[in-house]
Amino acid sequence: MGGLKTLIILQLIYFCGCMDQLHIVYEWKQIDYEFPSPAARAQAIETKAFIPENNIPMGLEIYEDRLFITVPRWKSGVPASLNYINLKDNSTNSPKLIPYPSWAAHSIGMDGKPPEIVSPFRVRADRCGRLWVLDNGKMGNLETNVTKYPPSIIVYDLKTDNLLRKYVFPADQVKEDSGFANIAVEDADCENTYAYAGDLGKPAIVVYSWEKNESWRITHHFFHPDPLACDFSVKGFNFSWTDALFGLGLSAPNADNYSTLYFHPMASYDEFAVSTEYLRNQSLAEENFKAFKVLGSRGPNAQSSVSFVDPKTGVLFYSLVNLNAVACWKTSNKEYLMKNQGRIYMNEVTMVYPTDIKVDYNDNLWILSNRMPIWMYGTLDPNDVNFRVFSAPVVDAISHTACDITPRSDILDKFVNKVKNATNSLVAKIKQNSGGVAISPLSVVTVLMVSWIISLTI
Ligand SMILES: *[C@@H]1O[C@H](CO)[C@@H](O)[C@H](O)[C@H]1NC(C)=O
Ligand SMILES: *[C@@H]1O[C@H](CO)[C@@H](O)[C@H](O)[C@H]1NC(C)=O
Ligand SMILES: *[C@@H]1O[C@H](CO)[C@@H](O)[C@H](O)[C@H]1NC(C)=O
Ligand SMILES: *[C@@H]1O[C@H](CO)[C@@H](O)[C@H](O)[C@H]1NC(C)=O
Ligand SMILES: *[C@@H]1O[C@H](CO)[C@@H](O)[C@H](O)[C@H]1NC(C)=O
Ligand SMILES: *[C@@H]1O[C@H](CO)[C@@H](O)[C@H](O)[C@H]1NC(C)=O
Ligand SMILES: *[C@@H]1O[C@H](CO)[C@@H](O)[C@H](O)[C@H]1NC(C)=O
Repeated sequence: MGGLKTLIILQLIYFCGCMDQLHIVYEWKQIDYEFPSPAARAQAIETKAFIPENNIPMGLEIYEDRLFITVPRWKSGVPASLNYINLKDNSTNSPKLIPYPSWAAHSIGMDGKPPEIVSPFRVRADRCGRLWVLDNGKMGNLETNVTKYPPSIIVYDLKTDNLLRKYVFPADQVKEDSGFANIAVEDADCENTYAYAGDLGKPAIVVYSWEKNESWRITHHFFHPDPLACDFSVKGFNFSWTDALFGLGLSAPNADNYSTLYFHPMASYDEFAVSTEYLRNQSLAEENFKAFKVLGSRGPNAQSSVSFVDPKTGVLFYSLVNLNAVACWKTSNKEYLMKNQGRIYMNEVTMVYPTDIKVDYNDNLWILSNRMPIWMYGTLDPNDVNFRVFSAPVVDAISHTACDITPRSDILDKFVNKVKNATNSLVAKIKQNSGGVAISPLSVVTVLMVSWIISLTI
């Protein structure tokens, strides 16, 4: 067992220049909200409408000045399940969450009428200025008291914060065990937009067409959990999860405006892909099950939850649940092999359960970690930092990893220049001190370069 775990860990340590270039932008011990008044907050605590320890941030998204954060209603005492913080407010690095689009959208009616937003896990801001909220519809599913509403896709206009549409999934597309947590949005065309919602409970994708205002359910055996990949171990907590389709990452569109959807079940070591050409037409998907491809395996212990493709660099970022790490793979790389996986960040304290990954429209990578297995199977220490938001420009995050997009020759040029400068000044110094013993700067460059290449290739 230990040997298998070390295999992938070594891989990650080995192929990184050990950069881990992300920095922590926000961190919280517990989540708090911007209540209308201190009295309203005190009352919410008193009535158990707000139970701080039951609030765990699950999803993040960035759009202009706002960073959105979801807090699913897994347990009672979550006052607002979709929120944001203002990125311009630098007065604190543990900001209070502001309910989106309003407190009213989260309030449960006296008559038991559900709130506008029940319980989203992940959201997506498209390039057309719309926020797509995948609402799981379940309340209290980690407690005895489960309330189920149908799942839906809720779309807001990010310019006005007005509700554009709430599309409730038709009953025949929601199964008894369904669970909708992850969404990818194909927005090459702002009218002919498609949303892909992964069902992790009963393996399927529900595809929604914005133009048609219709959805359909697509199934494939690659969406199923691998029974040999259901055991997880995080920070001493061992558990078994059978979650199906989970990570969904959409590439930039090709010449025909179709993207590739990269996907994997949570209980799996493998990565798969399919062109959206097939997902957009249910009968086409059913007739062409071979259009779904196996890319390859990450190897033992390398189960992944969330994933995201940066459309500009084509780099697929994904979490590694058991390893407290985020890794990457260049989609332009034909081979999905272990050695082509790069390490972005790994840390046993700060990166425990990376729960969401996004790249914003200014080419910055964002990651949220939340220690979820400890929250679920143990208790979080309210005096310790439990939730963190990391960020860095994508180019920095991937530099010196297997996903680096800088052409090798550029790296070499930079390196040669640096070494030349260093040796030139060294030579100048030696000349000064020794009265002119000839050392060729070029021979020093050659020696250094050979040792550098060796260090890269062994
Ligand atoms: C916070 O932001 C303001 C303006 O946006 C800036 O003037 C100030 O220096 C910033 N403070 C810190 C601590 O970064
Ligand atoms: C369970 O549901 C009942 C009725 O809907 C409600 O009164 C009660 O507060 C709920 N309990 C919890 C812990 O949410
Ligand atoms: C792809 O989408 C763009 C933007 O909507 C459009 O201008 C272009 O004509 C489309 N190309 C094809 C081949 O449909
Ligand atoms: C979309 O379809 C639903 C029924 O599935 C309907 O209730 C809703 O009004 C439609 N929305 C638009 C914008 O056409
Ligand atoms: C949890 O699993 C790990 C290996 O996956 C094992 O080393 C450890 O002993 C297990 N712990 C418990 C409490 O079962
Ligand atoms: C879906 O694909 C089928 C062929 O499998 C084709 O007959 C049908 O017209 C397509 N539907 C749409 C809406 O494009
Ligand atoms: C090397 O020196 C030149 C000029 O002295 C400078 O322009 C260049 O940026 C330096 N290169 C590196 C990699 O330090």
